[in-house]
Amino acid sequence: MVWDSDTFPIPRKGDPLFEKIKWSRLPKHVAIIMDGNGRWAKRRGLFRTAGHTAGVRMLKKILKVAIGLELEALTVYAFSTENWKRPQAEVDFLMKLFAEYLDRETQEMSEDNVRIKFLGRIDELAPSLQNRIRSAEDLMKENSGVRFNVATNYGGKDEIIRAVQKIIESGIDPNSINEHNFDQFLDTSEDPPVDLLIRTSGDKRLSNFLLWQTAYAEFYFANEAFPEFTPEAFVEAIIDFGNRDRRFGGLKNSKGTSKS
Ligand code: IPE
Ligand code: IPE
Ligand code: MG
Repeated sequence: MVWDSDTFPIPRKGDPLFEKIKWSRLPKHVAIIMDGNGRWAKRRGLFRTAGHTAGVRMLKKILKVAIGLELEALTVYAFSTENWKRPQAEVDFLMKLFAEYLDRETQEMSEDNVRIKFLGRIDELAPSLQNRIRSAEDLMKENSGVRFNVATNYGGKDEIIRAVQKIIESGIDPNSINEHNFDQFLDTSEDPPVDLLIRTSGDKRLSNFLLWQTAYAEFYFANEAFPEFTPEAFVEAIIDFGNRDRRFGGLKNSKGTSKS
């Protein structure tokens, strides 16, 4: 695997890539359903696994852009609780890819002031992968830059059920639970709600991702498969977000009346 061939420097304010960015209208929390790796590979006559490798390489660049934009949080969907249904060879390949990613990238992410966290049922992963996850999280836990959440063995329904279990175990008075403190029991307890949810490769569904956190997210569906979702395509999604009119049920920021 040639990892060093595609080093991508962190773009900063003033970089041509950021020319059209409205800095006052950036999302705080962006989530990405990194879909279409398999189809991308098949179109090229490659094994699906080659698509996953290409996807991981693009993810590295997307993270650099998120750092340059100084996003608060970037959450990516790497493996769902439903993805265990795939052929064992593909599951094994993905798990190996996650381990390799951590082995190769942890140091650089830490130098970039990234704080990594894994969301989902991490305790069901192989012990060797769990160890890598814990040591990467540990190494970066004091970092103050982008919070990079990697949803691995993650399901939105499962996360909500685990939250309910934590609440029951804590013995809290049921009447004291509200929308604000329920957040504290989720895997994303330290992050703001998702502002922008991106899904690549054309399908328009959540596939059990961040069900609670996307309650008021703006959705952006890109036709590109994730391995072709370049920094330019990512920036386009950020610019599109900057033009959205978010009302949260009210009228305050509305550009017109209900008739317009
Ligand atoms: C997304 O790409 C990566 C994972 C689910 C791990 P896919 O593997 O779902 O690719 P497609 O959607 O089959 O093309
Ligand atoms: C969602 O993609 C999961 C990840 C990107 C990790 P899938 O490819 O698994 O979703 P479906 O099966 O098309 O809904
Ligand atoms: Mg898919």
